[in-house]
Parts: sequence; structure tokens; C-alpha cells
Amino acid sequence: MPELEINNEPCSEGVAIVIFGVTGDLARRKLMPSLYENARQGRLPEPLYIIGFARRSWSHEKMRDVLRQGVMDYGRTKPVDEEVLEGLLDRAFYVESTFQDEAGYGRLKKALEQVGVQNTLFYLATPPNWYSTIVENIGVSQLESCQQGWRRIVVEKPFGRDLETAQSLDDKLHSVFHEDQIYRMDHYLGKETVQNILAFRFGNGIFEPLWNRKYIDHIQITMAEDEGVGTRAGYYDHAGVIRDVFQNHLLQLLTLTAMEAPAVFNAKAVRDEKVKVLKSVCEFTGEKAIENTIRAQYVSGTINGKRVPSYRDEPDVADGSITETYMCARLSVNNWRWAGVPFYLRSGKRLPSRVTEIAIQFTQVPLALFGQRNLASEAPNVLVIRIQPDEGITLFLGAKVPGNAMRIEPVEMRFNYADAFGGEPPEAYERLLLDCLQGDATLFTRSDEVEEAWRLTQRIIDAWEAQGLKNLPVYEAGTQGPHAAEDFMQKDKRQWREI
Ligand code: BG6
Repeated sequence: MPELEINNEPCSEGVAIVIFGVTGDLARRKLMPSLYENARQGRLPEPLYIIGFARRSWSHEKMRDVLRQGVMDYGRTKPVDEEVLEGLLDRAFYVESTFQDEAGYGRLKKALEQVGVQNTLFYLATPPNWYSTIVENIGVSQLESCQQGWRRIVVEKPFGRDLETAQSLDDKLHSVFHEDQIYRMDHYLGKETVQNILAFRFGNGIFEPLWNRKYIDHIQITMAEDEGVGTRAGYYDHAGVIRDVFQNHLLQLLTLTAMEAPAVFNAKAVRDEKVKVLKSVCEFTGEKAIENTIRAQYVSGTINGKRVPSYRDEPDVADGSITETYMCARLSVNNWRWAGVPFYLRSGKRLPSRVTEIAIQFTQVPLALFGQRNLASEAPNVLVIRIQPDEGITLFLGAKVPGNAMRIEPVEMRFNYADAFGGEPPEAYERLLLDCLQGDATLFTRSDEVEEAWRLTQRIIDAWEAQGLKNLPVYEAGTQGPHAAEDFMQKDKRQWREI
């Protein structure tokens, strides 16, 4: 690596962000555009250096070009402010090394000394199979130790591929870093509307009294995508929807919906409450796990007028793969607030549209006062927290249709994020990057949280594996999911909301 032409006085405010795997998609699509957006709004510490670390034979200039293009292509606000962008890129440097090569970490250490800031954020933007090696080499090279300032590390999901690998990744991380230096990134927690769940629940008096088993019939948490696996089948075919989003995003949404109010709003108190929810989820094994879940795989179909191939025909999917691209589960949170209220979680690829929402369905009125077409049986009150798109909150109510007859129809009372605050909510990475630079871990997953989420998920995976299916139920791309999922709800005399 050429000498960096910098010779700074040590700066207590400045930060160096070391991006391992800077040549990959994450850096270009998410990290750099988010850093740029934060810089544009004057929110970044000064000075901020970006040190990319990866195997490809790139120059500093090449890395800057790729990152610049990332901002042009994926930046949220246009036109791009060139002065801000170039200001960031002037302080971006590249270290070429494989992740195993100790000498590369020596070069990284030298680069960090040259930029001369006291604080370092390590960002693992590599495929997860490199996490352990990188953490180990950070430790061997003593990059984590510092006399002054701080060292933190960001780890992207997936945190392990099962309970055992998650625990061993944690052991590895803890052998080099303290828990309070580790920021496990689940980007769902950075979404404005996900944080709004807490504001909505704990910043308003009127809903809390209703937020329990007395008034809530059930809860549906949906994360639907119209996209298929795209170019990620190499990873996805070993993960499936259960590891890809159930273990993390869906369970995170569940904890935020079900948790008790924390004593104070800080990282420890919030995460303590979330962990309690996970501990209260009734764990099921074997037959019970099979009865309470459905999994399926998409076959070719039509989405938005376009024919799309079957999962098994996507590039990099193994022949005869039985990886699920859809799952739903019925979970019970066995505590005083929720006992007896089913939480239905579902997620799938190649569903008709991209929708993430939490729907709280309230119990019905006790008497059908208004005759046959009583709202109570046909369209009960539902509160829908829409995470994306059309971010907002809608309450479905019954109202009298004008006219002589006492006819009740469902109507909507709606809060729309864009109308109320103007514009799209910021990108999750912007908030999360800033939080780890500022040392606020509230929106990151703590080690015991990950472990509890895995414990629960692992039981389902084990039951599915023991089933030894050769083929999964299928659903046509562009439909609501497998028929079995409809039957699953009908058995409970309930219905999925339409995607
Ligand atoms: C990722 C999953 O964590 O979340 C992807 O790995 C999924 O499979 C993505 O597509 C969805 O994120 P978002 O923010 O688009 O809902």
C-alpha cells in the first residue's frame, strides 16, 4: 500500500471507519450513500476517514470511484452535493489484503496510525463466513486495543446459521471485544416506522389500556416481498426464509409489539424488555412445531404482468432444493399480557407485493346489534402499523353508510408518514450508522436477544429437518402464498389480511 499522505495530530473527535469487504454490494448500496447523507446533513464526526479493506487489487482511486458511483446510484437525495461527497472521498483509503493474511492487518494498523484519529469503527460488510477470521485477526493484530478513544465493531446479520454457530460467533466476538463494543445490525430496527411502534405505544395514553389479551383477538405480522432471490441464491438456498428474516426481522417486530414499557428509554432497559418477550414465547418442538408452522416454495407465476421463474430454476439454487421461500407461524407469548392471543408471523418471496405491516385485530363487539351485516363479524376493528411502503398507521372502524338502513361498513382513519412529516422517512442505515458512531446501542441486537431468538428458531428448524421432506408444498409466484397457509388460519376461524 502506498504511504498515505496524511499526518494528523491525534484527534479525539475523529473516527476511522474500517469497512471489511468494501468491494461488495453493501458498501456501495447502503454504507456509502448513508455516510454521504449524514455528511450532507452535517451529522458526522470530524474528521471521518473511511478505510476499505478487501482482497481485490484496487487502488485508493478505484475504491473512491466505486463508492462515488454508489452515492450517485443509491443516494436518497439528488442532486448529489459534490463538495460533500468529495470531502468524504478525499479521506477514503484502500488496504488490499485477504481476510486471512495477518500482514494485511499490519498494513491496516499502519494506515490507522497514519490517519491519526482516536476512534475506530470496524464494519463487517463481508459474507458471514469471514466474520470469525476477521475478528480473530483484529485480536491478533491488537487493533481493538486503545489507550484513548473507542473501538467498536458492527456485525451484519445473519448472526450464525443456527444456535450453535451463533454461540460460537459470540464467543469469538467476546474473545476480542466487550459486549458494549459490539453492534449487531438488524436494519429493521433502524426503520423509522419500526421505531414508531415504540413511540405509538408508549407516547400515547389511549392505546395502552387496549394492548392486551382482554381486547386483542390476535396479531398478524407480515413481511411480504414481490422480489425473488435475485442474485443471492448462493446464500439464500442455505438459509431459507426462516434464517433470512424470521429469526431476526420478524422476531424483532414481535418483540417491539409485545414488550412491556421499559423503565427508562435506554439500550439496556429496552433490550431487557425485548428479551423477556422472547423468553415468554412458548417454545415448541417436534409435532407441535410442525402443527404451528407452514413452509412452502414458489413456483413460476406472474407478478405485475411479468412471468417469473420457479425458485428451483433461479441461478445458483441446488437441484431439488427444499429451501422454503415462504413460512408462517403461530406463536404464543405466555405472559400476563398476552396469554391466549395468537401472534401469526409470515414472510415470503414472490408474493403479490412488497408489504411489511403489523395488524392488531381487536375482539369483536359482544352483540350483533345491527342485523346480519354486522361489522363485528365481517370487518372487526384492526389497527395496522404499516412499516413499508406507504408508512403510516391505519385504524379500521365501522361507520354507518348514509341512508335509511342501519348499514355498517368499514372505514379507515389514517395517519400517513409522508403527509404528516413530508417526504420519505430516512434510510435505516443512516440512523444506525450514526447511532454506533455515537455509542447508542438501543437499536442493535444484544447477545442474549440473538441467542433467545435462535433458541426459538432452532426448534422449528430441527422439527422441519426431522420431517425429512423431499418436496415442499408450493405456491404460485404472485399469489397470497400456499393453500396450506389459508387452511392454517381457517382452522383458527381467522383470515390472513390480503397482501
Ligand atoms: C434482508 C434479507 O435482511 O432484508 C432479504 O436478507 C430481504 O432477503 C431484505 O429482501 C428486506 O429488507 P427491506 O428493508 O427491503 O424490507
